[in-house]
Amino acid sequence: MNIKYQFYGFLVFVSIISLVSCQSVGGNKTGSEYMPDMAHSVAYEANTYGYYYNNRWGSEDDLHKMVQPRNPVTGTIARGYAGEKTDNMHGRGISYKMNGSVPYYYANSEEDRARAMVEIIKNPFPISVKSLEKGKLLYNIQCGICHGEKGDGAGYLVRDDGGKYPVQPANFMTDDLINSSNGRYYHAIIYGKNLMGGYSDKLSFEERWNVIQYIRSLQAASKKLEYGEKANTFNTTDTPYSLIVSAKNAELASTASQNKEASVQPKTDEHINIQH
Ligand code: HEC
Repeated sequence: MNIKYQFYGFLVFVSIISLVSCQSVGGNKTGSEYMPDMAHSVAYEANTYGYYYNNRWGSEDDLHKMVQPRNPVTGTIARGYAGEKTDNMHGRGISYKMNGSVPYYYANSEEDRARAMVEIIKNPFPISVKSLEKGKLLYNIQCGICHGEKGDGAGYLVRDDGGKYPVQPANFMTDDLINSSNGRYYHAIIYGKNLMGGYSDKLSFEERWNVIQYIRSLQAASKKLEYGEKANTFNTTDTPYSLIVSAKNAELASTASQNKEASVQPKTDEHINIQH
C-alpha cells in the first residue's frame, strides 16, 4: 500500500482513538470539553457558583466573590418591589406584580420615628376611587378593631360593650393626628407603637399607603373637606388621580403640537443628506 494512504489511515486511526478516549459523561462527571468557553457562559449567574476547572476568566476566589448575593444600592427600589402598576398611568404600559418588600431606612426608635415624621411627607400613590376602596377594606380588617371604623379610637376591642383592650388606641380625628405627616402613619404601620404591633408583614408597600389614604379621607370628612380622586382640599401631599391624568394629557397635547411645528420646519442639511 502507498505510504501516503498509510499515513492517512494512521491519522484517521489516531483521531478516532482520541475522540473515543475522551472521558464520557455520566454519573458525577461532565466529561471533557473541547471548547469550554462555549459550554460555560463567561457571564456569571447570580447566586450560582459555576466555577469549573477550565475556567479562564478569573480565579476560583474571584468567581466565588462575584456570585455572592449583594444588598440593593441604598436608597433604590428594584422594579416591581414598590407596587402594582397595571394601568398606563406612567406612560410606559408596564404591568407587574408587587411583592411589597420595599426597604425601610428607619429604625424602631423614637429618634427615627421623629425623623420619619419629618422626612416621609408625600403619599407616593395617587388618590383614586380604587385606592380608597382598597384602603377601606384593609383598614376595617387590620386597624378598625382598635382605632374604630370611624377612626375615632373607639374600636370594638376598646368599646365599653365588648372591650377588653387595656390601652386607648390613637384617635385619628384629633388635630394632632390630622396635622401629622404621612410619615407618622407609615412608621406606625411598620413598627407599631408600644402596645400596638407592627403591620409590615400584613400590608404591602402599596396597601400601607392605601390605608393611610383611607384614614386621611375619614379625617377630611370630619373637617368637611374633600379628599378623593377628583380633588383634595385636605392636604397638599397627596395627589388626586384626576390631576395626574389631566397633567399627562396636557403634556401629550403639548408634545403633539411641538411635533406638528417641527414637521413644518424647513429641512436641515442633514435631512436632505439622508434622503439622497
Ligand atoms: C390591637 C390594637 C391596634 C390595632 C389593630 C392597630 N393599632 Fe394603631 N395604635 C394602637 C394603640 C394602643 C396605639 C397607641 C400607642 C401609644 O401611643 O402608646 C396606636 C397608635 C397608632 C398611631 C399613632 C402613633 C403615634 O405616632 O403616636 C397610628 C398612626 C396608628 N396606631 C395606626 C394604625 C394603623 C394604620 C393600623 C392598621 C394597619 C393600626 N394602627 C392598628 C392599637 C392598635
